[in-house]
Amino acid sequence: MRVIKVENYNEVSERAAAMIASQVILQPDCVLGLATGSTPIGTYKKLIQWYNEGKVDFSEVMSINLDEYIGLDGSSEQSYRYFMNHNLFEHININIAKTFVPDGMAKNGEEACSLYDERIKNAGGIDLQLLGIGNNGHIGFNEPSDCFLECTHIVELEESTIAANARFFRSEEEVPKAAITMGMGGIMRAKKVLLIANGAQKAAIIKKAMEGPVTPKIPASILQLHSDCTIIYSEE
Ligand code: GLP
Repeated sequence: MRVIKVENYNEVSERAAAMIASQVILQPDCVLGLATGSTPIGTYKKLIQWYNEGKVDFSEVMSINLDEYIGLDGSSEQSYRYFMNHNLFEHININIAKTFVPDGMAKNGEEACSLYDERIKNAGGIDLQLLGIGNNGHIGFNEPSDCFLECTHIVELEESTIAANARFFRSEEEVPKAAITMGMGGIMRAKKVLLIANGAQKAAIIKKAMEGPVTPKIPASILQLHSDCTIIYSEE
């Protein structure tokens, strides 16, 4: 694990965007694993800026997102599909047909999960996976558990996750109680992993994930076993 501690959120965003832009420049048809949450918003803003300045071209990129709420479709402002369209895809020249977010509205959830794993496999895996981290150490929506789950799966969200994500909804009651998330296999098979975190409230969980035992109770701790994982963190 390579840990880059920086001064502030702007630096987190700039460094993360530089890694993603480099990936796209070196391999224009790469597969980016993308994340939602408030942390990546600054990274996406930088990428949009550099696209507008003609520095990076997304026309051949494929993207595969980590997760989606169960019961929200892409037109819902709180859905992760809406988030990605609104915060990145609509502002760059990525082919929207090559952007994938798990289907939170699928009638057959199990089928949707295995289709998503097929999608990742057929894409040849993820070249660079961007991650945030939840206050309880979740990555994607891989919540603390007794075991690491390899495949895409449907997960019941922890109370603390629902409370943390309530800020995006009108009330806590509106936060879906379940989500569909890429499993640890998809994340760990990514060639490179980039985790970004910002704020003093993330300091303790980052330390546990980086220095504590590798345990499914702290899902992000599995990244200690990844051969090319970078963490960019600011306590600002
Ligand atoms: C959600 C997402 C995660 C994200 C986390 C942290 O739960 N499913 O992928 O990492 O939020 O979000 P934030 O960056 O807002 O702290």
